[in-house]
Amino acid sequence: MRDSRSKAPGKLYVAGEYAVTEPGNPAIVVAVDRFITVSLTPSEQSSGTIVSPALFEEPVEWQRSDDGPLLMTKQSKADILMATIAVTEAFINEHDTLLPYYTLTIESELTDDSGTKYGLGSSGAVTVATIKAILKSVSLTVTDEIIYKLAALSHLSLGSRGSFGDLAAAAFTGWLLYSSFDKQWVLSHSKTLSLRELVFKPWPLLKIEAIEPPKAIDLLIGWTASPASTENLVLSMKDSSKDDHHTSVYSYEQFLLESKQCVEQLIEGIRSNHTSIIYEQILLNRQLLLNMSQMRSLVLETPKLQRLIETAERFGAAAKTSGAGGGDCGIALADRFVDQHALVNEWQANGIHHLPLTVFTK
Ligand code: PMV
Ligand code: MG
Repeated sequence: MRDSRSKAPGKLYVAGEYAVTEPGNPAIVVAVDRFITVSLTPSEQSSGTIVSPALFEEPVEWQRSDDGPLLMTKQSKADILMATIAVTEAFINEHDTLLPYYTLTIESELTDDSGTKYGLGSSGAVTVATIKAILKSVSLTVTDEIIYKLAALSHLSLGSRGSFGDLAAAAFTGWLLYSSFDKQWVLSHSKTLSLRELVFKPWPLLKIEAIEPPKAIDLLIGWTASPASTENLVLSMKDSSKDDHHTSVYSYEQFLLESKQCVEQLIEGIRSNHTSIIYEQILLNRQLLLNMSQMRSLVLETPKLQRLIETAERFGAAAKTSGAGGGDCGIALADRFVDQHALVNEWQANGIHHLPLTVFTK
């Protein structure tokens, strides 16, 4: 094992949120040029160390046990990291490599100066960067798909209900069409297959495809500076979708179908460079998300997000919430007729921070 250093980018959803948590339903997700960097140094100690100023005031220590790696003092903030170390080490052990202990140092660009998260998917990025750093330190080279699958297994082991689109963006980067895999299939096969066998098999319904970025359209990002809990919003949405059959006119099934058609049309618009189709479908996806959330009494568009969207529309852009909503970021797609400078000034005047990010493709 040798010193290594790896980074993984944050992400933003462009369209297809919520529906993408159901396997096989597509979303468009992009990686952005802000990163989490993980550095690994082998150590001669009899415990591992994690240094992460964003997560812990002091370094935390862990040791291997029959139940996998365990922190010496419990910290729930480290759950994702411990799950990631567990899966990655199990994968390496199947290659007959015995690991010494090591220090992982985590640096994040996904928060502002005061440590508030931008909502760019830091837990996804930290998972992917950690897997890459550990594999690199033992010179094990695998594809982006294998990295994504190891990351997904780490999150799955914690019972995450998410779609793992953040993991795809962090592992593959660029503009992506993403549909998540059949979780039941993976969970049941994980009981009988080795990790290696499992990750080298195709996973039903999983789709991760690069999309050629739209040529004549810019992606603008506004941050509302209020963090939102994706997990809580997804849980509320899924729980109330069970009552659909006898309560609502706008069913969950209908939402899934319309979201799928919308994302497919949007991809067509991007592929054929038709601004009008792209604008139309962003507008439609915003409406579908609003309908779905109103049926479930969830607030996706906070007053600030609503202002972000309406301001962007006044300047001739198409805009929507990005991701779970309820805070975090909104996006605007702007063609060359939009005065971006004036739009951004108007956002700032309304307390919306423009994040000057661009899509990152490795
Ligand atoms: O808020 P974000 O950027 O973490 O995105 C969440 C997107 C959802 O579809 C609502 C959940 C998911 O895991 O895909
Ligand atoms: Mg969010």
